[in-house]
Amino acid sequence: MARILVTGASGLLGINLALETKREHDVIGVDRDKLKSAPFRVLHANLLRPGSVNSILDSTRPAWFINGAALANLEECEKRPEEARILNAEIPAEMANACAARNIKFVHLSTDAVFDGTKEGAYTEADEPNPLGAYAQTKLEGERAVLSANPQAIVARVNFFGWSLSGRRSLGEFFVNNLSEGKRVYGFTDVVFCPMWVNHLSRLLIEMLEKDLHGLYHVVGAQPMNKYQFGVEVARRFGLRESLIEPQSVERSGLTAKRSHNLWLSVHKLSTDLGRSLPDFSTGLDGFYTQFQQGYPQKIRSYQQP
Ligand SMILES: NC(=O)c1ccc[n+]([C@@H]2O[C@H](COP(=O)([O-])OP(=O)(O)OC[C@H]3O[C@@H](n4cnc5c(N)ncnc54)[C@H](OP(=O)(O)O)[C@@H]3O)[C@@H](O)[C@H]2O)c1
Repeated sequence: MARILVTGASGLLGINLALETKREHDVIGVDRDKLKSAPFRVLHANLLRPGSVNSILDSTRPAWFINGAALANLEECEKRPEEARILNAEIPAEMANACAARNIKFVHLSTDAVFDGTKEGAYTEADEPNPLGAYAQTKLEGERAVLSANPQAIVARVNFFGWSLSGRRSLGEFFVNNLSEGKRVYGFTDVVFCPMWVNHLSRLLIEMLEKDLHGLYHVVGAQPMNKYQFGVEVARRFGLRESLIEPQSVERSGLTAKRSHNLWLSVHKLSTDLGRSLPDFSTGLDGFYTQFQQGYPQKIRSYQQP
C-alpha cells in the first residue's frame, strides 16, 4: 500500500482515480472546496496560492503524487491564458521540482491536443507537437517543464470518459444525458480521438508507478474513432436512440478554441513497456454502463457540497 496524493480530486480524473485506488492505497485528495463527504481523506487548497505545493507535500508526505489539477476547459483557457499558463505549466513544474527534492514519484497529466492533427495515422511520443490554442500550448509547456525539472516523472497524454461530480464533464455523459432526454445532438465526424474509460486510465497510471516507468507516454484508448462514432457506440450500449445524433463537422460547431482533427495517438510504447495490450474500448464502455446501472453517477454527485 502506498500513500497517493491526488490533486484535482473534484475533477473527472481525480474523483474516479481516488475512488478506484482507495481500496488498495492510502489516498489523499486535494480540491478547492467542492468535496464534502468523499470516502477518502480530502484537503482543501487553492494551488494558485504561493507556497501551497510545498505545504501540501510537507503535511501529507506521499510516496506518489498524481497531478489531476488543471485549467482544462479549452474556451476558458482562451479567455484566461495567463491563469492557464500558471496552472498548466508553472505549478506542475513546481510540483515536479518539489517531488524530485523529496524522492516522491510524480505523475503529471497532459493531453492528446498537443498535436495539430495534420498527420495521417497515429502520433507517437517521438512526433513533434504543434499546439493550436492556449490550452494545448500551456499543457505542452507543462509537460516540458515537468520532465526537465524531474526526468523520473511520468507525463501521460490522455483522453478519457467517465462519470463526473457535475454530471456534465465528459463526452460520454454528454451523449447519455442528452439522448436520455430525447434531445438531438451533433457528433463530430472530423475529430478522431482514442477515448479510454477513466477507471482503466486510473489503473494504468498505478501500474506505471508500480513498474517504475518514467518519461513521456501516450495513455489513451487503443482504438481510434471519431466523436460521432463514439456517440453511436454509447447510444447502442445504453439502449438510446442513435438517430438523435447528427453527424457534423467541428468547423461548424461555433466553438471558439481551435480543435485538431486527428488525435489518434499510438500506445505502442506503453503496451511494450507494460508487456501487454491496453484494455479494449468495448470493455471500458461496458464498465461505464455497469457503473450507470449501479447508481455510480448519483453516488459521485452525492460527494459534492450542496
Ligand atoms: N478529460 C479529458 O478527456 C482530458 C483530455 C486530455 C487531457 N486531460 C488532462 O487530464 C487532467 C485531468 O483532467 P479532468 O478532465 O479531470 O479535469 P477537470 O475535470 O476540469 O478537473 C480539473 C481539476 O483541477 C482543479 N483545479 C483547478 N484550478 C485549481 C486551483 N487553483 N487549485 C486547486 N485545484 C484546482 C479543479 O478544481 P475545481 O473542481 O474546484 O474547479 C478540478 O478538480 C488535466 O491535466 C487535463 O488537462 C483531460
